[in-house]
Amino acid sequence: MSIFYSESDRIFHLFNEQISYIMTILPNGQLGQLYFGKKIHPQKDYSYLLEMVPRSMASYVFENERTLSLEHVRQEYGVYGSSDYRFPAVEILQKNGSRISDFRYKTHHIAAGKPALAGLPATYTEADSEAQTLTLVLEDPVTGVELKLYYTLFAQGGILARSAHFSNQGTEAVHLLKAMSLCMDLPDCDYDWIQFSGAWARERHPRVRHLEQGIQSVGSMRGHSSHEHNPFLILKRPAADEFQGEVLGFSLIYSGNFLAQAEVDTHSTTRVLLGINPEWFDWKLEPGESFQTPEAVMVYTNQGMNDLSQTFHRLYGRRLARGYWRDRERPILINNWEATYFDFTEEKILRLAETACKAGIELFVLDDGWFGKRLSDRAGLGDWRANPDRLPGGIDGLAEKIEKLGMKFGLWFEPEMVNKDSDLYREHPDWILSVPGRPQSQGRYQYVLDFSRPEVVDAVYQMMADILGSGKVSYVKWDMNRSITECWSAALPADRQGEVFHRYILGVYHLYEQLNTAFPQVLFESCASGGARFDPGLLYYAPQGWTSDDTDAIERLKIQYGTSYCYPVSSMGAHVSASPNHQVGRSTPLRTRANVACFGTFGYELDLNRLTSEELETVRRQTAFMKAWRSVLQFGTFYRLKSPFAGSTAAWMSVSQNQQTALVGWYRILNTPNPPYSRLKLAGLNPDFLYTVREGERILGKFYGDELMYAGLITTNGGSGEVLEGDGPGCDFDSRIYILERVQE
Ligand code: DGJ
Repeated sequence: MSIFYSESDRIFHLFNEQISYIMTILPNGQLGQLYFGKKIHPQKDYSYLLEMVPRSMASYVFENERTLSLEHVRQEYGVYGSSDYRFPAVEILQKNGSRISDFRYKTHHIAAGKPALAGLPATYTEADSEAQTLTLVLEDPVTGVELKLYYTLFAQGGILARSAHFSNQGTEAVHLLKAMSLCMDLPDCDYDWIQFSGAWARERHPRVRHLEQGIQSVGSMRGHSSHEHNPFLILKRPAADEFQGEVLGFSLIYSGNFLAQAEVDTHSTTRVLLGINPEWFDWKLEPGESFQTPEAVMVYTNQGMNDLSQTFHRLYGRRLARGYWRDRERPILINNWEATYFDFTEEKILRLAETACKAGIELFVLDDGWFGKRLSDRAGLGDWRANPDRLPGGIDGLAEKIEKLGMKFGLWFEPEMVNKDSDLYREHPDWILSVPGRPQSQGRYQYVLDFSRPEVVDAVYQMMADILGSGKVSYVKWDMNRSITECWSAALPADRQGEVFHRYILGVYHLYEQLNTAFPQVLFESCASGGARFDPGLLYYAPQGWTSDDTDAIERLKIQYGTSYCYPVSSMGAHVSASPNHQVGRSTPLRTRANVACFGTFGYELDLNRLTSEELETVRRQTAFMKAWRSVLQFGTFYRLKSPFAGSTAAWMSVSQNQQTALVGWYRILNTPNPPYSRLKLAGLNPDFLYTVREGERILGKFYGDELMYAGLITTNGGSGEVLEGDGPGCDFDSRIYILERVQE
């Protein structure tokens, strides 16, 4: 890994074993982009990669000199209005009304390691040898605004982390109207664009389309990253697939409003922009003030989408997620939400806990309804004190009883919200986001606390710390169940109201940080009506997230498959729930529900006391299986093998780091009459290792890694068709887990 600057050619070349990233200082002092892709020879003049030729209709930077048009050179951090007509990376409104800016190279620094971003989640290093950071310092001579562009190149993987920092060193206030984290001009547009989109209960389904001239974009204006779109984007060559070909990934480490956009211009170059959504963003910078954008991460590989995902999994699992739980196997939990909803008593909870404990479950999570007057979703949010009618001994009393049974105890909060029917609202009606004199839109009967105000965040911290302080709660589920409306803060002046959305998210990060620091061993799981904030920003504070409110195993195949393009298995909350399922009414076998959830953090979310003793015995076997294999399932190398979005079966697998063991999840969505004799090509095994393959107790045989990867594992039940046996093997929604263990020859 190295960052090389050629003074004579004015070229920066960042490279490691996988990638090169090359930039140049343009004749006008702005920065030009030359190359991002597979590693090419360093210490060479690559300025020929910029085409500087006269073109009809172009505008030019210098008088009587028709070569440098910003429209036609690829830029590092594009500006609009001075010969570039594409959407820019930055827009600064100045006192005289002008929005032109012109950031010119001033100096640069290269340092080992990676600096932290104050108040923001970001990737990090544990040793300086893991990365190098280039800081390019640019300045706009008219406004005096200094722009620092950070580029961190990691030693391992084709990863570049980027962000921008603005500081007003001029004499007049300016307004930052757009400040993207990343601008990436690519020399052509022969890419398929893949976004990860959906809605509540069907989050992060991959959607593919070919890039065309014009703009394609996804984003959020809901105040959270959203169910609708994820701050993650893939551009892949049309011929690339899971195992080969050029693929680029762009991910934003942020949980608020975002924009991911690709603009293909008239000469087929592509500009990717990723960052805070400029819509409703307006950050005032007084002289001396500064602004740091969130971090964006770009990954390049020429080995297909599995390799891209594995690069993100390693980075986000080990160098974005932090703390005590980062590398630890996650406890198997039972959550009472789908078991009881709001209808519970302490006695009912304890009965559930008792059965759960006998079944091998390690953590009991008490969900919504334990506090204030929270008997339904119409009251109580904001009053984070146990309801004595429901829990006579309070949280500590219940936690002690659960601990006595032999389980840890976890608790649900929704820290950012308030019901009007709550003591908190009655005391502080001005603490919600709302515009004076206008109606307040409601979501789930609740309102959003103004987390841009430090005193609001502090008050919520105090209530939470009072509960967590006794040390009885070892897990917190942090929920967020509505989008933001009437985004206006009573604490900010008129010309700073465009800062509220971002300040809100900074408040969320601040509260998380305070809680992480005060309670370092508490395992946090983020949640926002399921997956509305399943993003890298929250992974920094909560190493796992509730992937979706949809717990149906077949829907979960799609959701977890889509989520896996960016996020590691260790981050995906996944539970076995009741059948018929509460979201889609589908009945699926208990084994399939567990076989899907085990490629996640794994837990249960149903009334175990309604199961037959036979089913409870199955649950006991499932928890024993999970304990035996979760290190491979959660921390192995994950491969997508067969998409649930195409065809009637799906498959994925995890391989241990030393390739000695692997687990393959195979799922039949709908059965096919008289199906072909099917094989599943596995991946990531050592071709020369001999593995025994078994499914439960059934030994399939011994096979070499190469056989399993190149010829494939036979997944057909019978030679000439599948035999239907009730909900047994051969039915719709069937599934199997194959266990591969290396044996000596
Ligand atoms: C939405 C979450 O996604 C559910 O799991 C549950 O916690 C409910 N909120 C509780 O209100």
